[in-house]
Amino acid sequence: MNFNIIDIINKKRLGFELSKEELEFAFNGYLNDEIPDYQMSALLMAICINDMNDREIFDLTDIFINSGEILDLSKVNGIKVDKHSTGGVGDKTTLVVAPIVASCGVCIAKMSGRGLGFTGGTIDKLESIDGFKVNLTDKEFIDQLNSINVAISSQTGNLTPLDKKIYALRDVTATVESIPLIAVSIMSKKIASGADKILVDIKLGSGALIKNEKDAKRLSEIMVKIGKKYNREVRTITTNMNVPLGNNIGNSLEVIEAIDILDGKEKNYLCDLCIKLSSILVSMAKGITEEEAKNMVYSSINNKSALNKLYELIKSQHGNINSLKVSDNVIEIKSKKEGEIQNIDAYNMGIVARDLGAGRCNKEDKIDYTVGIVLKKHISSKVKIGDVLCELYINDSSVYDVNFILDSYTII
Ligand code: URA
Repeated sequence: MNFNIIDIINKKRLGFELSKEELEFAFNGYLNDEIPDYQMSALLMAICINDMNDREIFDLTDIFINSGEILDLSKVNGIKVDKHSTGGVGDKTTLVVAPIVASCGVCIAKMSGRGLGFTGGTIDKLESIDGFKVNLTDKEFIDQLNSINVAISSQTGNLTPLDKKIYALRDVTATVESIPLIAVSIMSKKIASGADKILVDIKLGSGALIKNEKDAKRLSEIMVKIGKKYNREVRTITTNMNVPLGNNIGNSLEVIEAIDILDGKEKNYLCDLCIKLSSILVSMAKGITEEEAKNMVYSSINNKSALNKLYELIKSQHGNINSLKVSDNVIEIKSKKEGEIQNIDAYNMGIVARDLGAGRCNKEDKIDYTVGIVLKKHISSKVKIGDVLCELYINDSSVYDVNFILDSYTII
């Protein structure tokens, strides 16, 4: 059957469902450069507005998975787990959770991404460590999993290339925030990267892609269904992203905070969340209760085996942890109000960190790993006029607006 891309766009614009063949024609055509950006953008926008049903989502996931190679992790012994966060501000959970889980004897095969818009990405954070190799070959990835139980790599060139191409287009066409497109993007990567059991942390709130509970529930249900189709156990957890996660936002600063948590120096909501995520993953892999898994997680933090696992991971991927640098140009932002901090807008803080140079506005932008924000006061803190709310680590080209930062705090 001969298809026409304009008819396909029009069909979705009018709210009709697309057949697998139509989806293949459009998306594979885009991958092969037969369909231009502007037509794919129009189709993505029609999907954002008119949604997709479960069948379309399953079919599109399949098309994404089969656009590239599927990593065969059968050469890695035992159950392999993976975790994914839908993205947020200050979200360095992977840097904490992966070493904890690995030090509990569970193999964690982690494919991570870069920052997108106002959200940060694990790969950028790891690149703040001098020499850290983020592009492992399949063989290096598998060998490292067999030797130290953990590897973190960026999406290899051949894994879901369609997601890579569509993701970049969504980022610049305001089509990121679509439940079907998010589900397809995440699940195709997770299935293709080979783990048996997958935990997805659905971030919900102002600093997240998902802004309401109904969408979080739908995303969760569809991801679990996709997992079933491919014989993978998928669990989801929905967690708060109205305020930044932890105290530090920015690449080197987030690595430092992850080390502090693994070193037992910081006990906060971020620490509790990392313990929760790690306990779920360990319980899924070992078939034990979450409570039993939690005891293992606590011991791995208390006896420093999780911290040592992080150092082992960094060394194995050629990073030099002693190279971690933060800017020595630090500006204090002081409160102009007295009261209790009721909110710190995560989205605004993500934008501030990005504009300081910690994120990208365009795909080509270079990140400054040394800049970012350190929150000196968090939710529920009592503050007086003149108290330091946060510190900005800046460079010569950092752009910031003190009033915008102050307005991001709700102090009553
Ligand atoms: N994370 C992904 O990998 N894809 C999305 O579309 C959103 C978050």
